[in-house]
Amino acid sequence: MTADLRLGERLMRRLDELARDTDEPGGITRLFLSPAHRAAMTRLRRWMEEAGLEVTEDAIGNLVGRVDNGGADATFILGSHIDSVRDAGRYDGGFGVLSALEVVDALRRAGTRLPFAIEVVAFGDEEGVRFPTTLSGSRALAGTFSPASLSARDPSGLALGEALRGFGCDIAAIAAIARDPAEICGYLESHIEQGPVLEAEGLALGVVTAIAGTSRFNVTLTGEAGHAGTVPMGRRKDALAGAAAMICAVEAQALAAAAVVATVGVIEALPGAINVIPAMARFSLDLRAPTDALRLGAVAAIEARMREIAAERGLGIEIAPLHEAKATACDPTLIEALSQALARQGHPIFQLPSGAGHDAMAMAALCPVVMLFARCEGGISHNPAEAMSVADADAATRVMLDFLVHYEPPARRERRARGAARQVPA
Ligand code: HGY
Ligand code: MN
Ligand code: MN
Repeated sequence: MTADLRLGERLMRRLDELARDTDEPGGITRLFLSPAHRAAMTRLRRWMEEAGLEVTEDAIGNLVGRVDNGGADATFILGSHIDSVRDAGRYDGGFGVLSALEVVDALRRAGTRLPFAIEVVAFGDEEGVRFPTTLSGSRALAGTFSPASLSARDPSGLALGEALRGFGCDIAAIAAIARDPAEICGYLESHIEQGPVLEAEGLALGVVTAIAGTSRFNVTLTGEAGHAGTVPMGRRKDALAGAAAMICAVEAQALAAAAVVATVGVIEALPGAINVIPAMARFSLDLRAPTDALRLGAVAAIEARMREIAAERGLGIEIAPLHEAKATACDPTLIEALSQALARQGHPIFQLPSGAGHDAMAMAALCPVVMLFARCEGGISHNPAEAMSVADADAATRVMLDFLVHYEPPARRERRARGAARQVPA
């Protein structure tokens, strides 16, 4: 008997359709508040409405679909992000939104009304590629969005606040997006693993226990422009050569520090002429570790080494913090509940940490969070070669469905326990 993969099949077809909403034809690049972001929201809105959700767009560009379930007094939130890195894969983010939609639609088709409302949220700014911000949408829901972020500028110099206005958002209403923690009972995000662990274990799915903390910086070095042919090597203040030495030092320190990863993803040099010694170099630094102690220790060590190199080379150095997300522990009760759903659906219970950042980090300020990882072929992500199977997509969706059907909001659990206590014979 062939397995029923209909949930996974439609999910994967829709991810292929969503991939068409891109700012850079020929690949998937969907930046926060861009035309591709708008196109993706239009497409998702249609699918959400077909699934019977009441759809709203909030003042920070999140798309929110809600099933009230008869005005339940608690809401469980599912979701992920629909923005992408440049030249991205098609599963990072979108998988979490569309698997959630499959779950809600399956409940609707089965006529199943849960004792809590469900929201499916498509966050618009998880990657932080366009603006030097990130997690804007999930932070707004959690009530931790900083209005100072509105002055963050994209490479064209446009401020986030202006871009939001241009997108049709009323920035005065951002604060009102914050949810009341008393009404939100939890957040579940499914996501392609973006790493090699599940594949190496021969598993389709895993439950995330914690999410690594992240520190991001822009490092700017100032040296002295000069003639490439006439300035002796020992008299140069070459900003780009200094950056190269620092990047090698960053890599060496991360290699030496177990569980720390550090990446320089962006670099530029000015004036950028083949026969001019670079007067300025600027590079990004993304540093992560499973605990904040490890992360902050590595930041301090790398910063000290970069300043030493700058002094040795007579370079000016500015290390500007861009973003910090603390390491986030997932909720033990939700980890156990999701692990039981895995087991009921016939999967071994496997738990793992996430090296990648996710909206769940921001949502943890609002409510208990947990994540479900699906196997990532070759562990390849942030790359158009990112791939997963229909069967794994289907399995993830069924586990999410099982989790929700068996989930009981804490207030309801406590009422039931109190009721049971009263019935104990004297
Ligand atoms: O960078 C990350 O970890 C995530 O993909 N934004
Ligand atoms: Mn990503
Ligand atoms: Mn992601």
